[in-house]
Amino acid sequence: MNNYAIVLAAGKGTRMKTKLPKCAFPILKKPMIEYIVENIEKSVVDEIICVVGYKKEYLEELLDGRVDYAYQEEQLGTGHAVKMAEPLLKGKTGTTIILLGDMPLIDMKVINKVISYHQDKKNDLTVVTAEFDNPKGYGRIIRNEYDSIEKIIEHKDCTKEQKRIKEINTGIYIVDNSLLFEAVSKIKVNERKGEFYLTDIVEIMKNDYKVDAFLLWDSPKVMGVNDLYTISLAEKHLRNDINKKHMLNGVSIINPETVTIGHSVVIEEGVIINPNTFITGDSVIKKGCEIGPNTEIHSSIIHKNVSVKHSLVYDSIVFDKSSIGPFAHLRAGAVIGKRNRIGNFVEVKKSTTGVGTKAAHLAYIGDTTTGENVNFGCGSITVNYDGVEKHRTIIGDDVFIGCNTNLIAPVSIGNKSFIAAGSTVTKNVPEGAMAIARNKQINKADYAKNLIRPKDDTK
Ligand code: UD1
Ligand code: CA
Repeated sequence: MNNYAIVLAAGKGTRMKTKLPKCAFPILKKPMIEYIVENIEKSVVDEIICVVGYKKEYLEELLDGRVDYAYQEEQLGTGHAVKMAEPLLKGKTGTTIILLGDMPLIDMKVINKVISYHQDKKNDLTVVTAEFDNPKGYGRIIRNEYDSIEKIIEHKDCTKEQKRIKEINTGIYIVDNSLLFEAVSKIKVNERKGEFYLTDIVEIMKNDYKVDAFLLWDSPKVMGVNDLYTISLAEKHLRNDINKKHMLNGVSIINPETVTIGHSVVIEEGVIINPNTFITGDSVIKKGCEIGPNTEIHSSIIHKNVSVKHSLVYDSIVFDKSSIGPFAHLRAGAVIGKRNRIGNFVEVKKSTTGVGTKAAHLAYIGDTTTGENVNFGCGSITVNYDGVEKHRTIIGDDVFIGCNTNLIAPVSIGNKSFIAAGSTVTKNVPEGAMAIARNKQINKADYAKNLIRPKDDTK
């Protein structure tokens, strides 16, 4: 017997007031739908069907090859959305878990737990419920005098008394596959909203089948998000959980409320993370690093014993014992070698540097291959763009580049060469040469008095 999952993600997310469809909206820079799909993949579920509709191409791009799609062209409610999965599931035996695409905190343990509960109890339908101190907006669970689930009433359809009920519908249902679509086909349109509510299957099935509610205690895991405010609450939960996990693994996080670490980031024991730091994407931070304060690292690998302060590092690699910042910007595939110093207001883009290279202040290194032990003086620039195309600069080992040098690409600078400060280099520099490309200085004797105003002129 197989386990199937249907994830409902066709809705627009009107309450979000954003251009992206809700389930594609990022939380800690990762689209919401990926959290749920990742956790289902890790669970006992064998096949995932995602119901998509509004701006479906966004979701299809994110989930390519990981799920099968059912299409809901018109968003006529959660009951109607499940119906769209019928062609893909009909005739298959097993258990189906229905989940909503807008519950980013769900984890695979919850999914496994509720599926085994359903199967152990031999239920036909299990509704997963939770108790919320502030249940506003959620469907409420109505139980009868025997404490069994009777029905689910949406917040807006509740009476004053019913609104006081704290037990809510999480939107997770586990149902015997052979019964699901028959029950769903009996859902009638809700007159107030003009939608088919999936919640109605409780009333439809309860007389003839074994319908049960499973009250989950770890309730934040099943919170739904509907607008940018609830997204911020989910993000806070996620941030706390992730930071706690890292701290228990031996990562020291100073002032953790100000530190945001993405779901897929790997940080080794002993790393220190200072305040106001964001590490996201598939970043890896290895032993002995100190990151932050005021630093953003996205999809980058930081090798052992590196320090990154007040800096931005995107899609880049930094090798061991280098120091980045303050105020450095590495991006688009910058690869910084071992024991480099990339300092104040230095930008490195699509470039590699060898061991022991330094650019300590005010430099732009773009589309460049740099060797070992190169010194970029203050204000050096690799001039990579001629207004139409980008060109590469090649710099050998042990090169000294004087302050305020422009290296006009394409150009190649030989090993052990020396470039005088203020040069604009347009021709290749051979190995061991010294290049000077600037006007000769002229000193005009006694001339300055013609230019300098007398002191009392300012009065
Ligand atoms: C839903 C439940 C509510 C529950 C809450 C839990 C219904 C009627 N209500 O309310 O009882 O407490 O979730 O968070 O089911 N969707 C579609 N197609 C549609 C409509 C929605 O795919 O036609 C998808 C949405 O993309 C979303 C999910 O279903 O991912 C839930 O829809 P949403 O409108 O957020 O439902 P809630 O009002 O939160
Ligand atoms: Ca919702």
